[in-house]
Amino acid sequence: MFRVQAPLAERYTGADPDDLAARIGAAKAGLGERLFILGHHYQRDEVMSWADARGDSFGLSRMAADNSSADYVVFCGVHFMAESADILTADHQQVVLPDLNAGCSMAGMADLDAVEEAWEALDDVVDIDRLVPITYMNSSAALKAFVGRHGGAVCTSSNARAVITWALERGDKLLFFPDQHLGRNTAFQLGYDAADMRVWDPKRDFGGLDELDAKEATFLLWKGHCSVHQRFRVQHVEAARTEHPGVEVIVHPECSHEVVELADQVGSTDYIIKAVDAAPPGSTLAIGTEIHLVQRLAAEHRDKTVFSLDPLICPCSTMFRIDAAHLCWVLENLVDSNVVNRITVDPDTAEWARVALQRMLDIT
Ligand code: 13P
Ligand code: SF4
Repeated sequence: MFRVQAPLAERYTGADPDDLAARIGAAKAGLGERLFILGHHYQRDEVMSWADARGDSFGLSRMAADNSSADYVVFCGVHFMAESADILTADHQQVVLPDLNAGCSMAGMADLDAVEEAWEALDDVVDIDRLVPITYMNSSAALKAFVGRHGGAVCTSSNARAVITWALERGDKLLFFPDQHLGRNTAFQLGYDAADMRVWDPKRDFGGLDELDAKEATFLLWKGHCSVHQRFRVQHVEAARTEHPGVEVIVHPECSHEVVELADQVGSTDYIIKAVDAAPPGSTLAIGTEIHLVQRLAAEHRDKTVFSLDPLICPCSTMFRIDAAHLCWVLENLVDSNVVNRITVDPDTAEWARVALQRMLDIT
């Protein structure tokens, strides 16, 4: 679980942006090939500009797995991404998260105890050998390990369809956590309907279901959500269409099904970037995802009108914790061979979480 980030010294918090940029540049140059900085698309520009590679959570996990040379992988993203990088990198590589408080509120909505409790309860009612657990990448390493031990896999927003298809070749039903929306949206994409799905509420006895529900459902969807993507509403899509006739609405699959159903396109952060790139000049695009990515896309595509589907800014407050000051702090410490904020996963958890992550990488 999270350790609390210690406050930074005045020479970081009080430094002006140009000074921080110069110091980050000097530290990065000094570390050379020993350093690999990964940046998730939701990062601030002041951080993202230093990333050696950018990506969605699937792309970043692949890049972490593919880089075996850097001693230090500085992960500008959130805790579960850094944990996955630690699991997928070689033993000699150390993964660093610039701010330990950069978690993910959705990942916190399912913990190992609650999932084990659900699994045991379901064992009394359904054929547990035909139940496949699938965890969204946005989950702790402990949950990834649970899934690895029980024949399941990890998925991300860019490969959920392939992973769920794979799972349903191995079993009759899925326990999908922690994001009900990604699970539901993918199930609909695959041709299932609402009658095939039930929401498992971990706060209620037997998930708030009865035995028949559990027996009948193909998808048991954990009651978790992303507070950023849950803000996008049907009314936003309707307003965008009224105010901008011809607008293309592109949303992330963590949005509710009602929003996804109305949108023109749905996909991961990488997908959204490619869709905006591919849109012809003069296009108007309303984007339903985290605001830093939307603003970056708007700045990079001046020949198009790119705006947030929700006019009220909706940053991911945990991604936002990583700033130039924290990046500078970890890099200057690395220059002094002092590894701060290292993220490690214990060997047993890592072994089984790797199984679940590797299944995902193999499937896709
Ligand atoms: P992507 O895998 O699409 O980058 O999404 C990660 C995430 O946390 C979205 O909220
Ligand atoms: Fe987690 Fe939502 Fe932030 Fe993504 S946007 S990291 S799901 S809180």
